[in-house]
Amino acid sequence: MNMIVAADSKWGIGRDNGLLASLPSDMKYFREHTLGKVVVMGRKTLESLPGQKGLPGRINIVLSTNKHFEAEGCRIVHSEYQLFDELAQYDPDDIYLIGGASLYNRFYKYCSRLYVTKMDADLNADAFIVNIDEDEDYSLISESEPVTENGITFRFLVYSRNSEGLNRARTLRF
Ligand SMILES: NC(=O)c1ccc[n+]([C@@H]2O[C@H](COP(=O)([O-])OP(=O)(O)OC[C@H]3O[C@@H](n4cnc5c(N)ncnc54)[C@H](OP(=O)(O)O)[C@@H]3O)[C@@H](O)[C@H]2O)c1
Repeated sequence: MNMIVAADSKWGIGRDNGLLASLPSDMKYFREHTLGKVVVMGRKTLESLPGQKGLPGRINIVLSTNKHFEAEGCRIVHSEYQLFDELAQYDPDDIYLIGGASLYNRFYKYCSRLYVTKMDADLNADAFIVNIDEDEDYSLISESEPVTENGITFRFLVYSRNSEGLNRARTLRF
C-alpha cells in the first residue's frame, strides 16, 4: 500500500474538515498517482470531497463504523479487519491511502511508499499526521525542486520503508 498526503511545516494536513491549501500542481500529482487505482479513506474525508461521493476513475473504499452509511461510488467497510479483507484482492502497489488524519496515523506503517507534498508554511491546521522524518522505518528517497503556487512553496517528497520497517510492519496486527 502507498500513502499520499499534503502536509504543512508542522505536519498539519487539514482544518475544519477541509484541506489547508489549493495547489493545482498537487491536485494533478494526486490525480496522476491515483487514477485507475484503489483509494482508501475515512468517512470524514469522503464527506469533504465534492458532492460527498467517490472520486471518479478510482475504486473508492471508505471506512466508517456506521453500518447504515452509504455513498455514491464507494464500497463501505466497517472495521480494520473488513478493510484488509477487501484490500486483499488488489495489488498492494495499486492501493493508495488518501486520508484523513485518523487513517494516515493508524495505517501509514502498512505503507511501503509515502508520497508527501511538503508545504513550507505553518497553515494553522487542526488535523495532523506523525512527523515522518522522525520515523526511522522510513527514508527520504526523492525530493523535487520547490514549486510556488498561491503563495505557498512546496516540494514533492517520496519516502520508502526500509527493511527494518518492513520487518516491523509484518508483525503489526489490526
Ligand atoms: N492534506 C491531505 O492530503 C488530506 C487528505 C485527506 C484528508 N485530509 C484532512 O483530514 C481531515 C480529516 O481527518 P479525520 O481524522 O478527522 O477524519 P478521517 O480519517 O477522514 O475519517 C474519520 C472517520 O473514519 C472512520 N474510521 C476511522 N477509523 C476507523 C476504524 N478503525 N473502523 C471504522 N471506521 C473508522 C470513522 O467514521 P464514522 O465516524 O462514520 O464511524 C471516523 O470518524 C480533514 O481536515 C481533511 O481535509 C487531508
